[in-house]
Amino acid sequence: MNKQTTVTIKNGPDLFVLERLVPTFSLDVFDCSIAEYNEYLTQEAQRAQNELISVSWLLHERRSGSLAAYMSLINDAIKLNATEKELHHLDYPFRTIPAMKIAKLAVSKTHREQYKSIGTYMIYLATGIAEDTNEIHSACRFITVDADIEHDPNVTAFYTKNGFIPNGEMNNRRSKTISMRKDIMILR
Ligand SMILES: CC(C)(COP(=O)(O)OP(=O)(O)OC[C@H]1O[C@@H](n2cnc3c(N)ncnc32)[C@H](O)[C@@H]1OP(=O)(O)O)[C@@H](O)C(=O)NCCC(=O)NCCS
Repeated sequence: MNKQTTVTIKNGPDLFVLERLVPTFSLDVFDCSIAEYNEYLTQEAQRAQNELISVSWLLHERRSGSLAAYMSLINDAIKLNATEKELHHLDYPFRTIPAMKIAKLAVSKTHREQYKSIGTYMIYLATGIAEDTNEIHSACRFITVDADIEHDPNVTAFYTKNGFIPNGEMNNRRSKTISMRKDIMILR
């Protein structure tokens, strides 16, 4: 087996380029091993983008032009309880805090074999998009995700390693997802 290359903030831009979804991209070859995520990209993402439901970002390998990963981003807001607000030093009289949600995230199976940390790099890139939004247009304090434990019961470990914590207010035991947040004011 070939040695995996670890993707870092430093080598990421040399290895990959992040591009907003456009209709001319070839999507059919993408396989992250979960049919729902493959089908979302090939059948739903462009329509959702046209209808202002989500914006999808594709990570292409520079060398081959192949599609390594994608994520779909949407605006969000989360409700925090008093303890959670205190944790983030949010001294405001309201509970609803602005956020940006990673509505979909998937890394191709073949690229996962070649590279380590593409998913982590995507979180870093999503954080950069949230920071740009904050600087230019509107505020979002958190990056959120509904971690899909139906397809992968261990996936919360990936988000925890990337600085996400569960949202106490927004989870119930029967859900197929776990709502999580990452405070983008905490330095990366
Ligand atoms: C989940 C996913 C995005 C992670 O991407 P990745 O490139 O494999 O993850 P990384 O290499 O950046 O992993 C970072 C760390 O999280 C861990 N991790 C990654 N995926 C994990 C998983 N599914 N379960 C438990 N731990 C996981 C890694 O082992 C690594 O730990 P380490 O730093 O201690 O070595 C990718 O596996 C994927 O696309 N899965 C299928 C689609 C999916 O489940 N998307 C998420 C929906 S909420």
